[in-house]
Amino acid sequence: MHTLSEYQGIIEQRLKEIAYPQEPSGLYEPIRYILDGGGKRIRPVLTLAACEALGGAADDALNQAVGIEMFHNFTLLHDDVMDRADMRRGRPTVHIRWDERTAILSGDAMLTMSAAIMSRGCSDAQLPAVMGLYRRTAMEIYEGQQYDMDFESRPDVSVDDYLDMIRLKTAVLLGCACALGVIMAGGDRAQADAMYAYGERLGLAFQLRDDYLDTYGDPIFFGKEIGGDILNDKKTWLLITGLTEDTSGVIADEISRPSEPDVKIERVRKVYDSLGLPVRCQQLIDTYVDAAVAQLDKVSMTPAARKFFVGLAEKTRSRSH
Ligand code: IPE
Ligand code: IPE
Ligand code: MG
Ligand code: MG
Ligand code: MG
Repeated sequence: MHTLSEYQGIIEQRLKEIAYPQEPSGLYEPIRYILDGGGKRIRPVLTLAACEALGGAADDALNQAVGIEMFHNFTLLHDDVMDRADMRRGRPTVHIRWDERTAILSGDAMLTMSAAIMSRGCSDAQLPAVMGLYRRTAMEIYEGQQYDMDFESRPDVSVDDYLDMIRLKTAVLLGCACALGVIMAGGDRAQADAMYAYGERLGLAFQLRDDYLDTYGDPIFFGKEIGGDILNDKKTWLLITGLTEDTSGVIADEISRPSEPDVKIERVRKVYDSLGLPVRCQQLIDTYVDAAVAQLDKVSMTPAARKFFVGLAEKTRSRSH
């Protein structure tokens, strides 16, 4: 097994090596910009680590790792248009630095490139498994993103609706990242399913923590603007629970007749605080981190491999970016 930063280094190196045509620069420049902008690379790290944990070499899954990071970054270009987000990874988003039509088209190109990269280096037996999982996961993410938008204007979203939405928009990609590593290592179906289950639960914790940080994070570390979810009426666990328990009516009031952006964020956050939601949200994050770690018992791996996946789960619990 390698360390987290070694896996990240392998991914960074391979992303840098991608050769883009010079022209039209309006299409390729934003792709270089988003991929050069850092990012934790958690999904491709999961792919490489799962491949090694199941007895393969990191190199065996490098194309699938890069393919999944390319796909993830495509979703970010479109997501930032959909969420009207101006900052990502501490820099202006592509639709701010360029414009929305650029974010759409460069995103389209990244989606196509991700599919091409994903299919590389697969044996005849691996190819249908890899591409089938990739296609199914991509469709689930689009479904999750649609629910995420639909929920903004729906007053009756439950915590279960929310959990299913974040499973689709975020968790399945972490599950897919893990399973791809297993497939490229030549692992069997049961091992792929168990590692998928680990990634999916990790993904639920990961998105819950993302939603927590959107309200309570430090923009310097988080790299994104704070309060965007509140301004968009995103039905996060915080907002759903806040709406249910807020007897003052402040949150419902802010949704129907919003104040100035800063005032709205402040008023809603005050209610969250008064209900003790930050601590309770963290408890839910902890539940999913623990559930992820429990899945590792179903896969036989070396103590070093297990330690790696436990460590990644522990980091997710308290991440600040
Ligand atoms: C952002 O993903 C989108 C979510 C699913 C929360 P990351 O938090 O992995 O973003 P980067 O790639 O590290 O910037
Ligand atoms: C991201 O959810 C899900 C996808 C990009 C598919 P968010 O909208 O919460 O992600 P951020 O906060 O913009 O990174
Ligand atoms: Mg979004
Ligand atoms: Mg977003
Ligand atoms: Mg977010």
